[in-house]
Amino acid sequence: MKTRIFRNKKLIDRDKEINFLLDWFNQLPELILWVYGPKSSGKTTLIEYVVEKELIKDFKLLQNSRYWIKYINLRRTLVSSYESFIESFFEESGIEKKTEELNRIYDLWVFKLEAKTLKAIKERRINLFKKLIEELGKIDKQKIIIIDEIQTLEDIYINGDRELLKEFLNFCVSLTKETHLSHVVILSSNTVFIDRIYNDAKLKKTSEFFKVDHLDKSIVVEWLSGEGFKENDIELIWDYLGGCIPDIQRMMMLKDKYKSIKEYLEHRAFLAYTEMVMMYQQSKFSKEEIEIFENICKEILNNGSFVLSKDRDSKYLEVISKWAEKEILFFDPLTLEVKGNSRIYEKGMEKLEL
Ligand SMILES: Nc1ncnc2c1ncn2[C@@H]1O[C@H](COP(=O)(O)OP(=O)(O)O)[C@@H](O)[C@H]1O
Ligand SMILES: [Mg+2]
Repeated sequence: MKTRIFRNKKLIDRDKEINFLLDWFNQLPELILWVYGPKSSGKTTLIEYVVEKELIKDFKLLQNSRYWIKYINLRRTLVSSYESFIESFFEESGIEKKTEELNRIYDLWVFKLEAKTLKAIKERRINLFKKLIEELGKIDKQKIIIIDEIQTLEDIYINGDRELLKEFLNFCVSLTKETHLSHVVILSSNTVFIDRIYNDAKLKKTSEFFKVDHLDKSIVVEWLSGEGFKENDIELIWDYLGGCIPDIQRMMMLKDKYKSIKEYLEHRAFLAYTEMVMMYQQSKFSKEEIEIFENICKEILNNGSFVLSKDRDSKYLEVISKWAEKEILFFDPLTLEVKGNSRIYEKGMEKLEL
């Protein structure tokens, strides 16, 4: 395990993932890369680290960089309409946008257009994606487009602009498989959404999936040993928190406020349990849906995971998707495995009296 410094904090491990991405970006764009994994596994941190520290290295020399990178975090930019989607790629020339420090680096890679062209795109007299391909074609650098939190587009998807999302995905295919003009990386924790749009837009032959999971046990042991934790405590922490990085970081920050590590961990498990109880209360599940959820929990507790199969009732996926949306369950569309979004939810399940 290698520990790096990123934004003045320790970045734990991720050697394998960093190398995978660097290799990927060194090859000709052929496929859309879908980076998925449970909420808080570190997807955003990983991609931002790779962009800021590995690909760019020095922002003062940005103009000389080999790369042209467009990174859009849809949750941060609150893209909720066609218009705001356009604004994340294009700006009117001559107008300086005020942006936060962190976003400033990413905002440098934006296309400046004359006001009348921008207006024509907004009024759909010029096709947004054709224009984007035209502009990208003019840039003599390795281009990388990264879209984080793609599930945010679900609002647009549901509220009628279904075509926009499809058009966007076709544009991604065209950039990679057809023209090799740019890499496209799409990130999300919402695998049920990914699975649906992926099937809807028939992207099978044009996509590659890469999972960023919580840390493996060996890495957690190495990390916690390095921080001075004893073997017994490390076992206990692994049992309650697994490899969920922010959960472990929070434990380190707060443990001294409790009588023991065990007491802290039990408190977290109880909070996970109450979150699930609230979900029962608020979601008005049918008897059948509750039974399905509890079957899933039982299998997770007994076997480490629940596996969806063709013999299961189709209601199962529906129930999984409701709990996945609340980031309590995580569904891996490649292995069809279901687990707690992080280990602490599985400890919460133990309290459900199944
Ligand atoms: N490798 C890492 N080392 C240290 N902290 C990390 C690492 N990966 C993620 N984190 C921390 O964990 C939190 C969640 O990570 P994030 O990248 O937002 O997860 P995701 O995008 O998968 O939901 C962040 O606060 C981040 O600082
Ligand atoms: Mg993220």
